[in-house]
Amino acid sequence: DDAAYEAQFNAAVAAEERIEPRDWMPDAYRASLVRQIAQHAHSEIIGMQPEANWITRAPSLRRKAILMAKVQDEAGHGLYLYSAAETLGTSRDELLDRLHAGRQKYSSIFNYPTLSWADVGAIGWLVDGAAITNQVPLCRCSYGPYARAMVRICKEESFHQRQGYELLLALSKGTEAQHAMAQDAVNRWWWPSLMMFGPPDDESAHSAQSMAWRIKRHSNDELRQRFVDICVPQAESLGLTLPDPDLAWDEERGHYAFGPIDWDEFREVLRGNGPCNEQRINQRRTAHEEGAWVREAATAYAAKQAERSRH
Ligand code: ACO
Repeated sequence: DDAAYEAQFNAAVAAEERIEPRDWMPDAYRASLVRQIAQHAHSEIIGMQPEANWITRAPSLRRKAILMAKVQDEAGHGLYLYSAAETLGTSRDELLDRLHAGRQKYSSIFNYPTLSWADVGAIGWLVDGAAITNQVPLCRCSYGPYARAMVRICKEESFHQRQGYELLLALSKGTEAQHAMAQDAVNRWWWPSLMMFGPPDDESAHSAQSMAWRIKRHSNDELRQRFVDICVPQAESLGLTLPDPDLAWDEERGHYAFGPIDWDEFREVLRGNGPCNEQRINQRRTAHEEGAWVREAATAYAAKQAERSRH
């Protein structure tokens, strides 16, 4: 009966064993994983848009090749994650329908525009840096398929973070105009990157339960603080500043203190009122509609192959 199964499930989680697709799990655990993994998958594919915006205008062949590879990696991450969600019994089609209908979220960060080439660097350094900080602990998530997908994703994110850092460093050490462009990009991406970690702990609806289930290993605020601590010395090496006058080493806590985050802005972006929400979701829907013939052709081809192998 369910009580016995639940006790077994709780014992497995407590013993740091992985929960696998065929194992019994509470309905709420399954639903919360689908929610988080789907939101994560959607973020990966929507996240292709702001950077793809610069592929045709990359300043050299080398930069263009790197950026194309990076954007393709994001598509791959989306696929690993939709596959992980499918092991919980929800199809990719269904999840995409929910995204297109506005019933599932994707990360707030991808609703900001990429105004200059330096934004590609700032996204790599800050957005992918924040993503790694948040995702490395997910490699130890209690749900096996999600944890395993995260291992590869984190390795690739780590490459993305370095390419962003290297790009920004080149600009920062370049001409005065290039340096100013890099600084402007960092100024615009810093605060939205801090918002990626989610609402403050006392407003985070899911944290307590997700931590008890060992889906999450650290709270939103803990990871945000870790990220700030990592970024401050990196900004110094880049020769750039972070746009926060309150940023200061707090000897007592052993962390950098930082200024207040504009949570009204975060809530507005989540409500669909960020600078690019409409553009992002429209472009996603259009890409899906325009790709219908590819899905139909692939299905027809697979049916034909299956038919042939029967004879
Ligand atoms: N953007 C959009 N929505 C967010 C964000 C954000 N930055 N942060 C939190 N939310 C949403 C949550 O999804 C939740 O909404 P829901 O109830 O409709 O699902 C609500 O705000 C409340 O937040 P929490 O209770 O704190 O949610 P949760 O415990 O799931 O923590 C977090 C949020 C940290 C984002 C977690 O889901 C997570 O670690 N996800 C995996 C990583 C991820 O999705 N990264 C995407 C961006 S990185 C990239 O793609 C490069």
